[in-house]
Amino acid sequence: MYRLIDGKEVSNYIKGKVRDEIISLGEKGIKATLAVIIVGNDPASRVYVNNKKRACEATGIVSREYALPEETAEAELLSLIAELNNDKEVNGILCQLPLPSHIDEKKVIDAICPEKDVDVFSEVNVGKMWVGDYDVASCTPKGVIELLEYYDIPLEGKNCVIIGRSNIVGKPMASLLLEKNATVTVCHSRTTDLSFFTRNADIIVAAVGRKRFVTADMVKEGAVVVDVGINRDENGKLCGDVDFENVKEKCSYITPVPGGCGPMTIAVLMKNTLAVTKKQNNV
Ligand code: GUN
Repeated sequence: MYRLIDGKEVSNYIKGKVRDEIISLGEKGIKATLAVIIVGNDPASRVYVNNKKRACEATGIVSREYALPEETAEAELLSLIAELNNDKEVNGILCQLPLPSHIDEKKVIDAICPEKDVDVFSEVNVGKMWVGDYDVASCTPKGVIELLEYYDIPLEGKNCVIIGRSNIVGKPMASLLLEKNATVTVCHSRTTDLSFFTRNADIIVAAVGRKRFVTADMVKEGAVVVDVGINRDENGKLCGDVDFENVKEKCSYITPVPGGCGPMTIAVLMKNTLAVTKKQNNV
């Protein structure tokens, strides 16, 4: 019998704790402000940015949106970031990805000063995470860790298999699981005999970006399956990287899509915005 991991419940718990701290900072005359930049008209990015703004409202974080047209020049975006870096009222900055193809994403990410990089995408902050010297961790991977810890799922010594090696999820996920003393294998779309690895996994984190990629035959009885994927199925419905209906019966715990990892990414973003605000104010 599997247990469903409820990302909405855990994210509400985290946002509640952030809200309490934002209120007590407010009593000291400190407010937290997050600047969110969106370039172009990508509908998925618009949904994510709206959700981030809603989470800011729920936690008492001030949000500022900078919506720039698709044809914005890279130099213009870099100059907005420079302005926000120097704005004492702004504590956190994020630029929603993907960016239009004429803009160099890496250049933009690294232009955000590390002290305000709440996504933890900049090379300085990624490096700090890998050496274990950090105040903020990548939102989605940290959200996965928070989910597992909330349900008291042990990580130490466990065989964890990550499917996907992106800079946003797969790689930082490996770093955080290693820090928890898990044994980590990072697989990806070109891994030979993927099932060999996944069938031995106590915990699978699927972040490959392919709908229903993880099937029941790939999963060990009693495994924990965390699905980071957000895809659309043939009917336009949201679905993850895991064939949920068939995989769930083999699991001890499994995350649904939606309602699993998605809400956690934003909850950790709020937590990160609080953390950088405290650091900047020596709290
Ligand atoms: N695009 C997809 N996920 C993310 C995220 O976590 N942060 C930003 N800035 N862009 C994204």
